[in-house]
Amino acid sequence: MSAPELITITVDGRQVQVPKGTGLVEAAATAGIEIPVFCYEPRIGSAVGACRMCLVEIEGMPKLQTGCTTPAQDGMVVHTARTSETAARGQNATIEFLLLNHPLDCPVCDKGGECPLQDLSFRYGPGKTRMTFRKRSLEKPIPISPTIALDRERCILCYRCTRFSQEVAEDEELVAVNRGALTMIATFEDEPYRGPFSGNIVELCPVGALTSTQYRFLARPWEYERAASVCGLCAVGCNITVQSREGRVQRVLSRNHPEVDRGWLCDKGRFSSPHLYAEERIHSPRYRRGEAGAVEELDWDEALAELERLIGEAHGEVVLALSGTETLEVAYSLAAIVRRGAHSDGVVLPEPALDALDPYRVPLSALAAAEEIVVFEESPVLERAPVVDLWLRLARRNGTRLTTIGPAGEIQRAPGDGAGACRELAGETNELGQRLRKAERVILIWSGRGGAGGAHLAGLAHALGLHEKDGSGALYLPSTPNPRGVAEAWEAAADESSHQPEQIGLLLVSGDEAANDPAIRKLAERARRTVALTLFAGDTASWADLVLPATSYLEGEGTMRNLEGRLQRLRRVAAAPVRPELSWLAELGERIGVTLPASATGIFAELSAKALDGISPSSLGDRAPLPARAKAGPVEAPEPEAPPTVRGGPLELIRYRALFSGPVVEHVPQLAFQRPLPEVEISAEDADRRAIADGDDVVVRSNGISVKLRARINAALRPGSVRIAAEHCSELALGVQVSRP
Ligand code: SF4
Ligand code: FES
Repeated sequence: MSAPELITITVDGRQVQVPKGTGLVEAAATAGIEIPVFCYEPRIGSAVGACRMCLVEIEGMPKLQTGCTTPAQDGMVVHTARTSETAARGQNATIEFLLLNHPLDCPVCDKGGECPLQDLSFRYGPGKTRMTFRKRSLEKPIPISPTIALDRERCILCYRCTRFSQEVAEDEELVAVNRGALTMIATFEDEPYRGPFSGNIVELCPVGALTSTQYRFLARPWEYERAASVCGLCAVGCNITVQSREGRVQRVLSRNHPEVDRGWLCDKGRFSSPHLYAEERIHSPRYRRGEAGAVEELDWDEALAELERLIGEAHGEVVLALSGTETLEVAYSLAAIVRRGAHSDGVVLPEPALDALDPYRVPLSALAAAEEIVVFEESPVLERAPVVDLWLRLARRNGTRLTTIGPAGEIQRAPGDGAGACRELAGETNELGQRLRKAERVILIWSGRGGAGGAHLAGLAHALGLHEKDGSGALYLPSTPNPRGVAEAWEAAADESSHQPEQIGLLLVSGDEAANDPAIRKLAERARRTVALTLFAGDTASWADLVLPATSYLEGEGTMRNLEGRLQRLRRVAAAPVRPELSWLAELGERIGVTLPASATGIFAELSAKALDGISPSSLGDRAPLPARAKAGPVEAPEPEAPPTVRGGPLELIRYRALFSGPVVEHVPQLAFQRPLPEVEISAEDADRRAIADGDDVVVRSNGISVKLRARINAALRPGSVRIAAEHCSELALGVQVSRP
């Protein structure tokens, strides 16, 4: 790319050079001068000039101009309120006008202490009021959803929230109603704001009009401890700031990593922290004695003695089932116990996680500049890796050609046929493949079934020569947060003396996700003894002999590898009510002859020396870099998996894991309204054939099991397939019948 043309402008006497097209707000910032803003926020689209806070004087122009909407021009001489009496008067008047009806309730407003209106009023405002009449008061707070409250009288109509809804999340849930002085922010038809990114408007609002219901009246910003961490709930690994007081998390905020999340956070990441304090959390080890199932609480000494005994009795036939939610450090310690302590190679990894895509690494931000993006989609990207969906929307707005391939894609393919589609595109004669070969920046995304950990995508990426093109690459979206990391940790803990067990003497289930997985529960039926390590009690005590309390991703130091391949550090931001895994695993190791450090730093050092080229945790920093691309070698794309046998009915069921599902979400009451609706997506043709209309109640059956759901006609869905969130169809077989009741 050629270097941008530079222009010279002068701001308050300081001369700076900026690329042509730069806005005045940024140009002034380059000169180290602030132009204050309320409505301007470049991440939500172009400036709208709604608030007039950014007024500046420009030589040669008769009136004050808004800095946010004015591009810098070569030779322009600008005076901000620092040097221009007129600009200062203009901003003073703007603040006075904004405060005309804004309540002066800072002492009880949640934004107090971190409020741009409060701060700018002190710095640019008149300091006293000339108003003698009563300010307008409105009904408040309006619950625009169970997680967000709106105090309308505080709103300064900057439209940041509605612009986010319309132009970033594109959910169109938030609107401005009425006109002029009566304009108000509202949800469409007063329905709750139901969208996976709604919480971002709380952070965007420059006043206390939009507040989080989880946080209202809890604390003041200056009372917190803050820690820079990473969300551990999906494989994007959005960067977060966690604010806590006396060891208790008060709220989770976004922390802009421009390559990963652009400062956005989904509501699962933002509003899930109450799961830490759920009543159903287990606080001490629980042991089930005998078949009758009397459950008793143990102290850690007793629990570790019991675990040592169970490992000994298993005679090497130990199998570890991982959830993919573990940090590398916890996974490594568990793996060392199993491989080096019990001498077993028995493992169930959450999903295949390979290094096949390492030569095609790209930051997520590359999506915004891509020329072509192809998504192999069976599970909606939004449900698997929500912030990737925001990047895709941005890419489309930027003019990227986006093609989806799958049962509901523009190019329709049968469920499970993503690998076949990859092969076709890799062929010389495929039309789309040819277009991709000619394009300069191409990104491939896998959000499908199987996918052999990205190996199918790697075959296509290699055929398209993406390793040789800057800004091109391929991303595999896993359905768990850290499958690659736990697989690496398992490999690194290998031991020569270990072997594959033939039976399962002891099944060690790590994490609530694995504990709730029907396939792992089947394994538990085959195991002689089972130990589960979970956050919540659930029904584990009915099938596990020993249940050990786990910590959450907010309660321990550790590392995860995200879907780009970036190693990121998680911080301990909440006091854990239970003994941390690394501490008791080190003690257990001591009992069975495995030396393990008890700290995350110690384990990372050991792991890094074996498998991560000796990198140090400090080199990851607070905004972790993306590792360099691996060298591309010849790629042998695996044969596409044979399609699964569809039995039980004529329609093939596509089951997907919804974003708002899983053990953490289930323990946050405010997120219940975001959980997937009991719906079945059905194609227009299949619905017609069964005389089903959109919104009808229907029955979905297979193998004698029936589920009542509401039909949602998806015009894009391929006839012959139906799609249902996993939590509404866990018992159904792959082939289903759908009919009116
Ligand atoms: Fe702006 Fe907040 Fe009002 Fe929305 S609610 S228009 S973000 S002041
Ligand atoms: Fe420029 Fe609002 S920041 S008009």
